[in-house]
Amino acid sequence: MKKTIRDFDLKDKKVIIRVDFNVPIKDGLITDDNRVVESLETINYAINNSAKVILMSHLGRVKEESDKAKNTLKLVSLRLSELLNKEVIFIPQTRGIELEKAISNLKSGDVLLMENTRYEDLDGEKESNNDLELAKYWANLGDIYINDAFGTSHRSHASNVGLASLLPNGVGFLIEKELKVLASSIDNPIRPLTVILGGAKVSDKIGVIKNLVNKADYILIGGGMAFTFLKAQGIEVGKSLVDLDNLDFCREMLEKHEDKLILPIDVIASHEMSDNSDYRETFITDLKSDEMGLDIGSQTIKVFKQYLVDSQTIIWNGPVGAFEYSNFANGTKALCEILANLEAITILGGGDTASAAINFGYKEAFTHISTGGGASLELLEGKTLSGIDIIHNK
Ligand code: 3PG
Repeated sequence: MKKTIRDFDLKDKKVIIRVDFNVPIKDGLITDDNRVVESLETINYAINNSAKVILMSHLGRVKEESDKAKNTLKLVSLRLSELLNKEVIFIPQTRGIELEKAISNLKSGDVLLMENTRYEDLDGEKESNNDLELAKYWANLGDIYINDAFGTSHRSHASNVGLASLLPNGVGFLIEKELKVLASSIDNPIRPLTVILGGAKVSDKIGVIKNLVNKADYILIGGGMAFTFLKAQGIEVGKSLVDLDNLDFCREMLEKHEDKLILPIDVIASHEMSDNSDYRETFITDLKSDEMGLDIGSQTIKVFKQYLVDSQTIIWNGPVGAFEYSNFANGTKALCEILANLEAITILGGGDTASAAINFGYKEAFTHISTGGGASLELLEGKTLSGIDIIHNK
């Protein structure tokens, strides 16, 4: 059991909380603030226990000077302030006099957010390479380190692994919740356990398939990755995405686990991927050589539903169609709707699928929507997460 924020006396202490505020921003607006919302419990706990709260997060990738302006956390500080109903002191620096002064002026219960930790990547990728000098500098700013950035916990950066190696540490409520829900559903599920896997590439999901094929009762496969499995069965899939390098892997999985792996029987087919393209529903076997499958069809939705209604635990990672285009979003929406009406434990892996489900209006429909994209994927692969591994045990 990892130490948690509850294991510390926070009163008057400078508590550095690493959160994951890496949120999608479009045209100057945060399009999904779920990660900010999910961090509130830990931040409020620290405020209510009279800590001087210092928040750190990355946002996007900062490779050159011009990446800074679009990746400032200023906008997030304003949203956080609204959600907390409290002033958030935003310091547009990751080090320096202004930051140090602001921290030494903090009163108990105050909240400060420093600028995007990846601004430090401009100078030798110090944050992303877990630079010791940077981690030591940041560690000197606080007394206690709490990691609540579940979405970042598969990274080994100065602001998570580096800081945890230098300060008394624990996890926050979000990491605690993510581990509890995800890990227990994988390792000790209420059965039947059905996994829905989607997304474009088989290569991204090989680790997950290998780990879950022996744990799940069924794996329903949609998205672009389904076509490599279909091709491996000898079905002609037209111009659909096929990952030739992984055909053998798919063939082997189908040979060993034929009854567990459930593939689409029909698709929404088109000549191109756009909002305006013509499309038709067709059985896979009738797909023309110049067409590609871009979403699961209505018969597949019915088949998937039969498995889903009988399941007690459902874990979903990856969209089953090119949902960014309105023509090909129906399958992903239909599965959201089916899951919304089930009593089962329903868990949605993070990343784009989570943002899509939230934007389609299904935020409340799931038992748990993970805030981790890559991190939840690595948990599903059975890996340990370095940002959590380093936290002390009780
Ligand atoms: C994520 O969005 O998956 C995390 O915030 C990690 O971001 P990264 O992939 O840029 O490291």
